[in-house]
Amino acid sequence: MTGRKKVEEEYLEVIYELISEKGQARVSDIAEKLRISPASVTEMVQKLKKRGFVTQEKYSPIKLTEKGSKIAEIVRRRHDILKAFLQLLGINEEVAERDACEIEHNVNQETVKRLTSLIEFIQHAPESQEWLKKFISFHKERILSGEEF
Ligand code: FE2
Repeated sequence: MTGRKKVEEEYLEVIYELISEKGQARVSDIAEKLRISPASVTEMVQKLKKRGFVTQEKYSPIKLTEKGSKIAEIVRRRHDILKAFLQLLGINEEVAERDACEIEHNVNQETVKRLTSLIEFIQHAPESQEWLKKFISFHKERILSGEEF
């Protein structure tokens, strides 16, 4: 996947989040979330506009087009699934959040489907909870023994 696609997805995801959280997405809020300058955001918003992902009237909040919304929803869903999977493995929320945001742009849809099924399977099969606990202690023991991997 190209870097451009990753950046576009990142922006659409943030715009989607802002609209769900605050009801609107403004350049300053996007800049704050992505920790970049408002000027860079404005530049990228123009590109997203040209590509048909967002609309924006002068001095107004940014809106997602249907096409932009669709991508944002897919990315968001991938993010949630990946995060849930990583947390299931015992990874803390902060790291799971960050890693999910990295992986979400490069993951195959088939993988996402499998992970979704796996998460549901584990949640609904009590014996798998035991298996999971054993896995987490197995991992901790490996770390404690100083094993390199
Ligand atoms: Fe994300």
